[in-house]
Parts: sequence; structure tokens; C-alpha cells
Amino acid sequence: MSIIRSRLAGVGAYLPERIVTNDDLAKIVDTSDDWIVERSGIRQRHIAADGELTSDLATAAAREAMEDAGVTAADIDLIVIGTTTPDDTFPATAVKVQANLGVHQGFAFDVQAVCSGFLYALATADKFIRSGDVKTALVIGAETFSRILDWTDRDTCVLFGDGAGAVVLKAAESEGKNTDVGILSTHLHADGRHRDLLYVDGGPSSTQTVGHVRMEGKEVFRHAVTKLAGVVDEALSANGLSSADLDWMVPHQANRRILAMTAKKVGMSEANVVVTLDKHANTSAASIPLALHTAVRDGRIKPGHLVLIEAMGGGFAWGSALVRM
Ligand code: ACO
Repeated sequence: MSIIRSRLAGVGAYLPERIVTNDDLAKIVDTSDDWIVERSGIRQRHIAADGELTSDLATAAAREAMEDAGVTAADIDLIVIGTTTPDDTFPATAVKVQANLGVHQGFAFDVQAVCSGFLYALATADKFIRSGDVKTALVIGAETFSRILDWTDRDTCVLFGDGAGAVVLKAAESEGKNTDVGILSTHLHADGRHRDLLYVDGGPSSTQTVGHVRMEGKEVFRHAVTKLAGVVDEALSANGLSSADLDWMVPHQANRRILAMTAKKVGMSEANVVVTLDKHANTSAASIPLALHTAVRDGRIKPGHLVLIEAMGGGFAWGSALVRM
């Protein structure tokens, strides 16, 4: 049966110039390089310059993805950005990026699913493409997460960084088989009962401030490992595939131990898991497209490879997507 699928036609990324190492952080909070590396796997993170906005990071990543895909501003029908750190409360950062890119048609909006933001954005754009409403979409994960960190709280400030990643999706006629190129399926979940384990203590309606990230790390860790293994299995069984069919897992980059435990639970070798958190830390919605970009550019992910994407974060919101490149 012939169906429309979304093909990944291009990837892009942008990281702010300034790198902050664990040793740099040890000068401002009671922590050490040894503790951060051992507990999380993180060695450094990029931090946006004063005046450098989420829309700037997103625009740079989008430009590279568009060039990679060989598309121009006139081709883009839809822009979806996953972000928790928009430039302003409104309008959407996606609209600002639309103007920056010179895109004057179609529609643009943000989705808010914290660390699962890129996955939610990808799933949303995929539905518009599959319905036939959209031919070419830009999907971006972009964050200046450093702006919502409490830089006196060592439990959280050592874990995050800033960055952006983008993909161009193009509609393509496909056979409707699990051997097709493109997004095979997406699987989204949320459970608001766990809000107090990971949240920001402010917002326009509640405090009229932006607020800071608060997290019960141990509890989040426990939920992450079971929920992530569950959505990997869900994506594989929905397509009649097994973990042996996967070439790569591109997970949200929260913690090296979560990545290792999830890989083990689903029966994948750690060698096939793309890890960038040592260099980028947790960039929330940007972490998956940044990792995807890294592995495509360094030649590990090749055309035809089967890639499993998964994420879990604040909400809780979590999910997965299966993509043949
Ligand atoms: N440096 C030194 N010591 C620290 C630091 C630090 N930066 N942070 C905490 N500690 C201390 C704690 O105070 C505690 O001390 P105590 O034993 O005297 O009480 C000790 O280290 C151990 O703390 P734990 O919280 O038990 O450490 P854990 O091994 O659980 O690691 C971590 C903490 C890294 C946060 C881990 O739990 C984790 O990664 N959790 C999941 C994070 C995640 O996945 N988040 C989801 C995505 S984020 C999003 O959606 C926005």
C-alpha cells in the first residue's frame, strides 16, 4: 500500500562558542570534575553568550539543515520548535526563526515537552506530512537552558548546557513497509502526576517570573530507565522489528548511566548508542538533534541505517521514534 512518509533530508546544529568545563563549575559550586563525570558522564557544556537567544541558536541550526537538504526558504511549509526556553512568553520562537530565515508562507509554532521537545516536534511535523497538508517541514530542538538554572544549586546546574539541532523533513511516497526510508512510527507519552519530581518553580501565570529548574534526580533516574526501555520496545514491536535490526540508538542525553542501562535492558550494545553528553551535557530538546547531527557528520549514521530515537523528561513526557535514514 502506497503511503506518505517523512524523510530526513538534512541535519544541522549549532553550539555556542563558550565552553564551560566541570573544573570551571567547581569554582562556583561545591562540586568536582570527578563527581560530575562519575555520576553523569558530563565533562563540559556550551553556554550561550549574553544577548545570544534561543532563536539565534535555532536559526543557525536550521540554516545548516536547509543547506544540507538543498531546500530554500520558499520550500518550507511548517516550522516546529521544541523548546522550554523561548525568547519570550509570546510569540512563539518558531515565528521569530521563520522571520530570520525569510520564510513568509506556511505556519510555525513551538511545542513544550522539555527534554522530549524534539521528539514531540518531530511526531507533530510527521503527522502533518503524512496527512498531505505539508510537503517540507523544519523541526528544531533549541535551548538556552542556562537561563533557567539556579547557579547556586549543584544538584542541577552541573547537568545542563545550551545548543540547537535541526532536521528538514520532506514528504515522500513510500510502500508502507518497515523497509521504507523515513519515519516509520512515533510514540508519545505523558503522565502529569510526576510533575513535582522535575519542574521549574515559576511561570507567567503562577509567579510572573521565569523560575529555576528543580529536580529529584534519583527519582527521575528510576522512572527514566523503565519508561525508556518501554518506549523502545513499543517502537520495535509496532514495526515488527527487534533490537537486532537497529543500527543506532540516538537517545536524549541526560546521564551516561541511563543510556547504558537502557541499552542493556533492550539488548543493544553500548557501542551502537550515540553519546554526546560528555561534550554537550543535557541540552534538553536540543540534545537528540545535536547527537543525530554528530553521528551523521562523522559518518557513523549512513543512508539506510535504522535509528531509534528516545527521550524522557519533565512532565513526565517521554517517547520514541523509529527512523530509516
Ligand atoms: N557535586 C558533588 N556532589 C553532589 C552534586 C554535585 N554537583 N550534586 C549532588 N551531590 C551530592 C548529593 O548532595 C548527595 O550527597 P549526600 O549523599 O551527602 O546526600 C550525593 O552527591 C549523591 O547524590 P544523588 O542525588 O544520590 O546522586 P545520583 O547518583 O542520583 O546522581 C544525578 C545525581 C546525576 C542527578 C542523577 O540522579 C541523574 O542523572 N538523574 C536523572 C536526571 C535526568 O534524567 N533528568 C531528566 C531530564 S532533565 C529534563 O527533563 C529537564
